[in-house]
Amino acid sequence: MTRDSSAISHADVESAYARWAPVYDLVFTATMKPGRKAGAAAINALGAGAPIQTLDVGVGTGLELPMFAPHVQITGIDLSEPMLEIARKRVASAGLANVKALRAMDAMALDFPDAHFDAVIAPYVLTVVPDPHRTLDEMARVVKPGGEIVLVNHIGAERGPMAMLEHWLGRRAAALGWRPEFPWAIVADWLARRPDITLIERRKLAPLDLFTLIRLRRENDATSA
Ligand SMILES: C[S@@+](CC[C@H](N)C(=O)[O-])C[C@H]1O[C@@H](n2cnc3c(N)ncnc32)[C@H](O)[C@@H]1O
Repeated sequence: MTRDSSAISHADVESAYARWAPVYDLVFTATMKPGRKAGAAAINALGAGAPIQTLDVGVGTGLELPMFAPHVQITGIDLSEPMLEIARKRVASAGLANVKALRAMDAMALDFPDAHFDAVIAPYVLTVVPDPHRTLDEMARVVKPGGEIVLVNHIGAERGPMAMLEHWLGRRAAALGWRPEFPWAIVADWLARRPDITLIERRKLAPLDLFTLIRLRRENDATSA
């Protein structure tokens, strides 16, 4: 049986990130730092200094964890134990008291009750999960009405040399562990069937506009009815 090499499975993610884990910080700290900082700043601005319970989906090695303000109480989840192991060491060595838990969990089947968190953040994750819509549905389920979902993501180029490169790389998605082609339509289509979710910000980020900050709000039930 042949398999679509642009599709990503859980097994692909687990084996790719077991390989990436030892070198992940070396390769991905600098380029993706502006996105992590922008995502953390969006979360830090919530709650007016009062504690806010925040879920970090796909926390990886925890590079974003030191960027959260003390009032942001973080629960991090990731599918990859080798990535989480590095995150746990980071939390211990930096003494990050606001990181409450780091758990192995699938973003597409979150083990939390409905409306459990004040905010959800997912830096560089939507391009990695096998089913982005199911992941977005899960994030929307666990965030409280009035809460925010903050995404940082590469949104694919629509034309030009970058689009060609992404298309070529797209055939290697399973081996890379992420999807280089990720059109905005994936988010737009999801938003179109979720009247309870509002896009409140979409902003290109450094370096070279490669990444995009996306802020979504789950409306109060009365607002979206
Ligand atoms: C590109 S890394 C981003 C890590 C971190 N947020 C950062 O900014 O460096 C993507 C992470 O998503 C995790 N991941 C992929 N699929 C997942 C899933 N279905 N559930 C939970 N985590 C997942 C991977 O294991 C990996 O750690």
